[in-house]
Amino acid sequence: MKKRIYMGTNTKMNKNIAQTVSYLEELSDAAKHIDRSRVTIFVIPSFVSLSAARACIAERGDILLGAQNMCWEERGEFTGEISPLMLQEVGVDIVEIGHSERRNVFGETDEQIRLKVKSAVEHGFTALLCVGESYEEKQRGVAGDVLSRQLQTGLRDIERLQEGALWVAYEPVWAIGERGLPAEPKDVTEQLGRIREVLVERFGKERGERIPVLYGGSVNPGNAQKLIEMEQVNGLFVGRAAWDAEKFAAMIDSVLEIMD
Ligand code: PGA
Repeated sequence: MKKRIYMGTNTKMNKNIAQTVSYLEELSDAAKHIDRSRVTIFVIPSFVSLSAARACIAERGDILLGAQNMCWEERGEFTGEISPLMLQEVGVDIVEIGHSERRNVFGETDEQIRLKVKSAVEHGFTALLCVGESYEEKQRGVAGDVLSRQLQTGLRDIERLQEGALWVAYEPVWAIGERGLPAEPKDVTEQLGRIREVLVERFGKERGERIPVLYGGSVNPGNAQKLIEMEQVNGLFVGRAAWDAEKFAAMIDSVLEIMD
């Protein structure tokens, strides 16, 4: 059985500053009884909410804070971008990199993602690298190859990987969002197996097996337990179903229940 799981959410372009603060306060209260030696809880709000979010959870220290993206450079002519130094100043723990909306709506490439992962790791953040195939790629039977390519490129430049410096989220594009179809256990097992193989090849057995691999894409209270039960799943990366703090805390309780 797993010793520790990871449960987190990215609020995407939702929740303004005030809403983020009240969400975090509610989540902190609703999750007060949850044993943190068994679960790491994280929240990734909008950039503009980060300072207020940090101030609100710094006092409690029970929820890790993440940013939704980051530029690989520290400073310079990169209008509209956020530097790793700025995120360090705010006190961010995690940087999410390569979410499918970044790749597909904003055209981020594997090469840019590689630079971001390297920079995030070198700046002492946990890089949360998101990978996933499109529906069309799944239909063509090339999902595993797509994941391998995304991971091999994304992780190519990491020289030294400290414990906790890398998490991976498998988020099939066809499973994400309002129109997403939750993935079947068969897909999750197969693709997480592939991801683990690449991690072990890249970082060696010991290190590669310890990197947390999360599943994301239409996770909800109805499927969370089934997903966490799967041996390959180390955690859940939740969108819409986590944006109500009480419901998210209840989901965390429900997955911990089956781990007892
Ligand atoms: P969803 O989002 O749970 O709303 O499908 C998942 C994600 O984008 O990480």
